[in-house]
Amino acid sequence: MSASRKLFIKTYGCQMNVYDSERMAETLAAEGYETTESPEEADMVLLNTCHIREKAAEKVFSELGRLRPLKEAKPGLRIGVAGCVAQAEGDEIMRRMPLVDLVVGPQSYFRLPEMARAVEGGARVVDTDFPAEDKFDLLGARPRGRRGPTAFLTVQEGCDKFCAFCVVPYTRGAEVSRPADRILDEARALIAAGVREITLLGQNVNAWHGAAGGLATLIGQLARLEGLDRIRYTTSHPNDMDDALIAAHGHEKRLMPYLHLPVQSGSDRVLKAMNRKHTAEAYLRLVERIRAARPDILLSSDFIVGFPGETEEEFAATMDLVRAVGFGSAYSFRYSPRPGTPAANRPELPADEVEDRLYRLQALIDTQARAAQEAMVGREVGVLFERRGRLPGQWVGKSDHLHAVHVHGPDTLSGTFARVRITASAPHSLAGELIEPA
Ligand code: SAH
Ligand code: SF4
Ligand code: F3S
Repeated sequence: MSASRKLFIKTYGCQMNVYDSERMAETLAAEGYETTESPEEADMVLLNTCHIREKAAEKVFSELGRLRPLKEAKPGLRIGVAGCVAQAEGDEIMRRMPLVDLVVGPQSYFRLPEMARAVEGGARVVDTDFPAEDKFDLLGARPRGRRGPTAFLTVQEGCDKFCAFCVVPYTRGAEVSRPADRILDEARALIAAGVREITLLGQNVNAWHGAAGGLATLIGQLARLEGLDRIRYTTSHPNDMDDALIAAHGHEKRLMPYLHLPVQSGSDRVLKAMNRKHTAEAYLRLVERIRAARPDILLSSDFIVGFPGETEEEFAATMDLVRAVGFGSAYSFRYSPRPGTPAANRPELPADEVEDRLYRLQALIDTQARAAQEAMVGREVGVLFERRGRLPGQWVGKSDHLHAVHVHGPDTLSGTFARVRITASAPHSLAGELIEPA
């Protein structure tokens, strides 16, 4: 095993891919691959890809185009495609892209060491199985080295919901929950490495059923681990927000007051056509119950604009829902037809109309997000400092409500909590002054 080989990973898509990229790097580290920030230095390049919208998937092919001259200059360079595009289009990629040596789906990357050895020997390999084994068990424990104060921890994968627009049930497979003891072991290892905030991840994280009592029970167990100060989870489906989880927002002090709870649309007809299995009214009632448990919680959502058949009135219902809720932040996407999904062949709306709706929705969301930020000015908030800012002596961290906060302070702030008084609100962050280091 030589320690001289270098690995460059580029990550697209959601946080689950960020987590997977970390685990891929760890797996290959055991094979002697050291990660590098520069593709030019690399002996292996892995693209960890996203299939959620057409644009996301296209990026992979343009990135592969950019890698072509690199491979021509360095024939020993191995190129791999991982993640959701690999899962959906693996064989196609192998056919169309001779420069790709390796295709590995999100459920089979624990086999990367043997795959890497095969491609080093000149083979081209594809593995997009959904193996029966739990990939996490096969990946083993996390390495012991020190790391930053925040970490992702995947607790659930896959999705059984089959929203009419979405590729995830096909690229990630059926819902699987990791057992609680494994998650707790991984959390302990992260805490020992310096982590103070863990974000639990799953495509449907609140459908986690690795122990009786569901996600609320798991959060309760994590909240009792010495050294863990903050817990977050994402992404939740409204239909899986059970009473215990809502109540946890009221009594678990370490569960942070921010919740990403995608609703997609405010129109009942569109929600039905999307196969979301809830109404706009049910979502609003759910939001009321969550706010009753934790009045200062900030909510966030995803929206799809221009779903097939969406009328101006139906779009207006989405705008009404946004006004009724008042989001702390939200993401909105132009509908993108995805091959193999039920909505793929439904007639699309005119692009300029969709563009116009997207613009109006984003303007409204922006106003709400700014208002939520401005409401923090003058308040004292807890901040976990993660990294240096661009200015000398500046540090950046996240507040409990997930706002980025900039302060000037000593280097000892790195990786620590401090109380901060918020003094100003900029477009995408807050500025503040240290009150006292925690
Ligand atoms: N599991 C999560 C979302 C995963 S995908 C949930 O159920 O909410 C992240 C977001 O991408 C979705 O919430 C949706 O808003 C958006 N999205 C998914 N498929 C899309 C498509 N075909 N076109 C546009 N946006 C899409
Ligand atoms: Fe996709 Fe719907 Fe599953 Fe979310 S719940 S991952 S949007 S199918
Ligand atoms: Fe994209 Fe796959 Fe995540 S399609 S959003 S990387 S689950």
